[in-house]
Amino acid sequence: MIFVLGATGKVGRALVPTLLDAGADVRALTRDPAKATVDPRADVVQGDLDTADLPALLDGADRVFVLTQGHSTEREAAVARAATRAGVTHLVKLSTTGVHFGQTDPITRAHADAEQAIREAGPAWTILRPGAFMDNRFAWRDTIRDENTVYAAEGDPASALIHVRDIAAVATLALTTPDHHGATYELTGGEALTTERQVAILSAALGRSVKFVEEPESAARERMMRKYGWPAQAVDGFFALKRESAQREHVVFDTVERLLGRPPLTFANWAGENAAAFPYHYRG
Ligand SMILES: NC(=O)c1ccc[n+]([C@@H]2O[C@H](COP(=O)([O-])OP(=O)(O)OC[C@H]3O[C@@H](n4cnc5c(N)ncnc54)[C@H](OP(=O)(O)O)[C@@H]3O)[C@@H](O)[C@H]2O)c1
Repeated sequence: MIFVLGATGKVGRALVPTLLDAGADVRALTRDPAKATVDPRADVVQGDLDTADLPALLDGADRVFVLTQGHSTEREAAVARAATRAGVTHLVKLSTTGVHFGQTDPITRAHADAEQAIREAGPAWTILRPGAFMDNRFAWRDTIRDENTVYAAEGDPASALIHVRDIAAVATLALTTPDHHGATYELTGGEALTTERQVAILSAALGRSVKFVEEPESAARERMMRKYGWPAQAVDGFFALKRESAQREHVVFDTVERLLGRPPLTFANWAGENAAAFPYHYRG
């Protein structure tokens, strides 16, 4: 049985059905099963990684997909230790390309330390290091709805965004086939797109022209805190990561195509699938 952490998140929502389709038994973790939308074929279990009885959650698991939010090395190290004691044979950790590039921002450092904890725990391991997700563009929903506009901080880099279904497909391969023990995979989409180009592709999928506005970082910070309610510390972490990743976000890795035998999904694929998620109230 495969125990999936982060089962209700962007990656986990794509991963759980793919694992089930591959014939695996899946236990899916969430803090709130009443709110969670999880594939009904999975065994949904309640637990908060900060307080949970890990041995009970891990009982009977032979593989674990390790994804935590909040970038706590200690949380992942605790999962790795408990998994080892529970007899788990394979840990697959979701990390970030930032580790490959040696970034030193706090989010990347936490992933680097957690990778180390996973490698040293005992079970076989596989590390997946995706770059920025296409799903991050759901953050554009509110200003597209209210103003038909996407605001981006000046100097936003071209980015080789990856579709979460490609991450899920690689994770499924790693968790269900034998050849990926001890492997570390950097994962991106197939091409780097400027933010302006991404907005043009989304506009084509929506059938209307969405405006693209570049703004100073101070305005972007203000928007994240005031409009989206991000805590100041999270905004700092976001921009620290962004400053360090800006030089590398355009780098394309061929890993998805090499492993899956098909090209990565494109931003046009993503925009077409998600057009309905961008409603439009703007009458300006
Ligand atoms: N976004 C990017 O561009 C990007 C790029 C590279 C790497 N990453 C990495 O991807 C990871 C985030 O993945 P994601 O975007 O799929 O996640 P997400 O959509 O932010 O969802 C977070 C998941 O974590 C679970 N969770 C949060 N706190 C928890 C707790 N205390 N105990 C148990 N479960 C908890 C949530 O479950 P419930 O709410 O149901 O409990 C949910 O399933 C991070 O490590 C991030 O650094 C992101």
